[in-house]
This record gives sequence, C-alpha cells and structure tokens, in this order.
Amino acid sequence: MRLTVARGPQESGEGSNEQSFELPDLSGASVSNALQYINRHIDGSVAYYLSCRRGLCACCVVRIDGKIEKACVVLARDGMVLEPVKQSLLIKDTVVHLGMPRTSEFPLVDAACDAQPSRKPAPGVADDSEKMCE
Ligand code: FES
Repeated sequence: MRLTVARGPQESGEGSNEQSFELPDLSGASVSNALQYINRHIDGSVAYYLSCRRGLCACCVVRIDGKIEKACVVLARDGMVLEPVKQSLLIKDTVVHLGMPRTSEFPLVDAACDAQPSRKPAPGVADDSEKMCE
C-alpha cells in the first residue's frame, strides 16, 4: 500500500511537499492508523492528530484525495493522497489549527477583546474574560 502525505510547511514557510510512503498491507486500517504506522515505523517526523478514534471529535480531519474527511473513520487504501484541510491553518503535515481563529478573522471577537469589561465577576467567580483574547 502506498500513501502520499503532504509534508509542510516548507522551510520557506509556505506550501507543502508531497512524500510517498510504502506500507505493508493494512487491510481494515483507518487512515489515522496508517498515519500512525508511518510515524511509528517509517518516519517519526510525520505529524498527525488523533483523539477519539470514533468519528466524534473531528480532530483528525484531513483532506483525502481532495475531500475533507475524518481520518479515523475512513479506511486506508492504496494510492491515497493526504493533505491538510486548509493551508492557511497548517501547523505541520496534515495537522491544522483547530482552535478559535485569531481575532482578525472575526471582527466581532476583535471588538469584544478591545472593549473594557463593563462589569466585574461576582466575588468568588473566576474572571476568564482575558482567556478568550489571548
Ligand atoms: S479522532 Fe475524533 S473524529 Fe477522528
């Protein structure tokens, strides 16, 4: 079984290079399992993200042959090409930033972060308003 994985970001900071990996027959294995196999047995620098392994959290989302899928619930097959879902969110290889986008992507969040808190939390209640704007 051969899988091709987009490796990036490049040293220039933009884009990805494709790298193909030859795997043993992993019949019945998910794409996440295949990425894990590559990481553990072929190239430990290949990054992947895995959490629930049940298709519930979407942390493992990747672009498989051009289609966005949850890698843990799609069976690996010969010739697949795995890429990050969005280059602009790329952390490494197929791993993308899944957290809250920076404020510049959401003007309303930006405005909320710029505003002074209009009231203080009640005594004994943690003020976590700063966390949203970190
Ligand atoms: S690891 Fe949670 S959906 Fe794949």
